[in-house]
Amino acid sequence: MSRLVTETIASLAPYEAGKPLEELARELGVVDAIKLASNENPHGPSPLALEALRGAISELNRYPDASALRLRERLAREHGVSVAEVIQGNGSNELLELLVRTFTTGGDHIVFAEPSFVVYRLAALAHGVPFTAVPLRDGVHDLRAMAAAVEPRTRLVFLANPNNPTGTHVPRGELEWFLQAVPADVIVAVDEAYFEYADAPDFPDTLRLRGLRERLVVLRTFSKIHALAALRVGYAIGPAELVDYMNRVRAPFNVGTLGQVAALAALDDRAHVARSREENSAGRARLAAGLERLGLHPLPSQANFVYVDLGRPARPVYDALLRLGVIVRPFAGLPQALRITVGTAPENERALAALAGVLS
Ligand SMILES: Cc1ncc(COP(=O)(O)O)c(C=O)c1O
Repeated sequence: MSRLVTETIASLAPYEAGKPLEELARELGVVDAIKLASNENPHGPSPLALEALRGAISELNRYPDASALRLRERLAREHGVSVAEVIQGNGSNELLELLVRTFTTGGDHIVFAEPSFVVYRLAALAHGVPFTAVPLRDGVHDLRAMAAAVEPRTRLVFLANPNNPTGTHVPRGELEWFLQAVPADVIVAVDEAYFEYADAPDFPDTLRLRGLRERLVVLRTFSKIHALAALRVGYAIGPAELVDYMNRVRAPFNVGTLGQVAALAALDDRAHVARSREENSAGRARLAAGLERLGLHPLPSQANFVYVDLGRPARPVYDALLRLGVIVRPFAGLPQALRITVGTAPENERALAALAGVLS
């Protein structure tokens, strides 16, 4: 069978998601576990989104609006762009892959950071596109090195801000420099999945920087602060011509009706977003302070998770936490690190207490 795929595809490992609660219950019999592994919003979706879902459920025999027009119109208004500049995705994940599939071939080249969101690498590998993964410097994107890694054949640069898994951010001034330094023919895709959680005064809103370069695509999602991860809705904003090309490759009906109506309603609930953001900021600070008290030094995070280097193998710590019913996220390529999603206040306390016990 292996002859059916390229060597690169044969060498891929499937995306490793955070361990589901049901799996832990099945494997270890832990029934009251908490999941701090997938950067989900622990407060759940907006009641407005749930209400909209109930209203749409009787329409499930119909295909969704293939162009997600109402949602795109609403997003266009929200961000002050035209509808033709907005494309919906089955999660922003689909749009990341769509960028690779639409704009690159095996003769091109992609640049992204390492460690960063693993899907950039997976998409490049699956599509057979060479890439350069530029190491972070002190846990942050090294934009000078990334700009230097751009070659004549480079078509696409991915930049996650805040970055996953580190939570660190590129400040506005540096991003402005980068957007102007990268050659004009390259597409820069700024992945802002956690944008709404960021609160640093120097955190850039890339949609406000679109004047700095034409080939700029900004990606956002309803999976994180809007708490609709199960429905798979993301979007990208870019030049109408690029969006048009992506639409030619995109699967039809890529976002279901439930996702479209829930996302629309979620945008109306600004109080829910504000509350999620405030509670995350407070929880993130408490989690970071708690880790410091354990003698650890988490990286400064602008997202809904913190990244910490334990200074020792992380896997046994991860396993011990699992047995205590606390699911966090280890990474195959980062053997001493754990990423902990900010949960509710009691969840954060429980995670810290469990970690204190395991480390002592
Ligand atoms: C940086 C980053 N980008 C994109 C995504 C994809 O999110 P979704 O496909 O749920 O929109 C994630 C998910 O964890 C992420 O961390």
